[in-house]
Amino acid sequence: MPNSWIITNGRIIDPAGGRDEQGDLYIIDGRVAAVGAAIPPDAGRIEAEGCWVTPGLIDMHTHLREPGEEYKEDILSGARAAAAGGFTGIACMPNTTPVNDCAAVTNFIVDRARQAAVRVYPIGAISRGSKGELLADFGELKEAGAVAVSDDGKPVVNSQLMRRALEYASDFGLPVISHCEDIYLGQGVMHEGPVATRLGLRGISTAAEAVMVYRDIALAEWTGLAVHIAHVSTAQSLALIRAAKERGVQVTAETAPHYFTLTEEAAAGYDTNAKMNPPLRSEADREAIREALADGTLDAIATDHAPHSCLEKDCEFELAANGIIGLESALPLSLNLVAWGILSPMRLIELMALNPAKILGLPAGTLQSGAPADITIIKAGQPFTFSEADICSKSRNTPFLGRQLPGRAVLTMVGGEVRFQKGLL
Ligand code: DOR
Ligand code: ZN
Repeated sequence: MPNSWIITNGRIIDPAGGRDEQGDLYIIDGRVAAVGAAIPPDAGRIEAEGCWVTPGLIDMHTHLREPGEEYKEDILSGARAAAAGGFTGIACMPNTTPVNDCAAVTNFIVDRARQAAVRVYPIGAISRGSKGELLADFGELKEAGAVAVSDDGKPVVNSQLMRRALEYASDFGLPVISHCEDIYLGQGVMHEGPVATRLGLRGISTAAEAVMVYRDIALAEWTGLAVHIAHVSTAQSLALIRAAKERGVQVTAETAPHYFTLTEEAAAGYDTNAKMNPPLRSEADREAIREALADGTLDAIATDHAPHSCLEKDCEFELAANGIIGLESALPLSLNLVAWGILSPMRLIELMALNPAKILGLPAGTLQSGAPADITIIKAGQPFTFSEADICSKSRNTPFLGRQLPGRAVLTMVGGEVRFQKGLL
């Protein structure tokens, strides 16, 4: 297939250039070119009437499970799931076995990712083995290709270590992504509220998240350095982040589609596909997250794609692993926010492409001339029922099977090469 294309009659949405208009997009040799540029004779043509043409979506929070738990997911299967969901780039968390805390593991991921359907950006660990004791070697991680550091899956319990991590990471231009959870307050299996009481399950209060969100804001404020808060789930955290941003603190934050779609009620039948960390919260929290996506308190939508097999999920709620897959359902669920009038299409693309690229410092998220042709074509108004046939991941742990969703990605292009398409070519 060619890697020069003319994509015609689409609605081109490019938040970096403030552009939202009907038009054609030219791609020459894998890069975005000016409209009207001399296009090679073998260029392909894609008719995109009725579709959005956007910069490729970037997921800044994916768990790929390789090395170590390839029966749940591997780098190639995760990347296929990403392409099917409209993502052209994914940043993978280091909580693999072994943990990605050194160049050997990062090099392995980068090497495997050469065969992957989308760009894979490794995130290195903050501490060795993510044990929270000694910092990992950030210089070595950066040199091997890590784009950020995080101990995601666990909080950095020691506040002094977290402060040093912010300082050390800033020397290498590495963003620090924080999993905010007070582990002593966080000893439960779902949101602490009426549903947990009814089910007889141990609860996790919203304070378990807020305490750490505020700790990280305090550290960012004191040091003048940046911190990114992963998977925000509560109104209380949002109030802290909003106030910190007003004071000029360099804090950015993401949420995941399940937090603006579901509530604690999803766990009412002991469905382990409604178990994740942080947990699904109250109706008021869900409402606050929707508002924060619209008003700029939240900067990004990330999937927290967390594949687990039936071995970890077909069991008692208390014992089940935390997390759900998200790469294939994230965009369709997020399109609901546009359908409901909460977000404009432009704002949605900012949350799913431009801002994640900016936070991670990636050369992506824009359709400006000369940019790599990482492009997603979206049919926002083509309702479908989410089913197993839509899943490319090795795992099936999602509460969204059977759900009617408003639209989806129909083509995913990386560097001018079509890596996924559904009924468009
Ligand atoms: O639900 C979750 N799953 N939360 C995390 O923080 C980790 C993740 C995983 O790795 O499964
Ligand atoms: Zn996490």
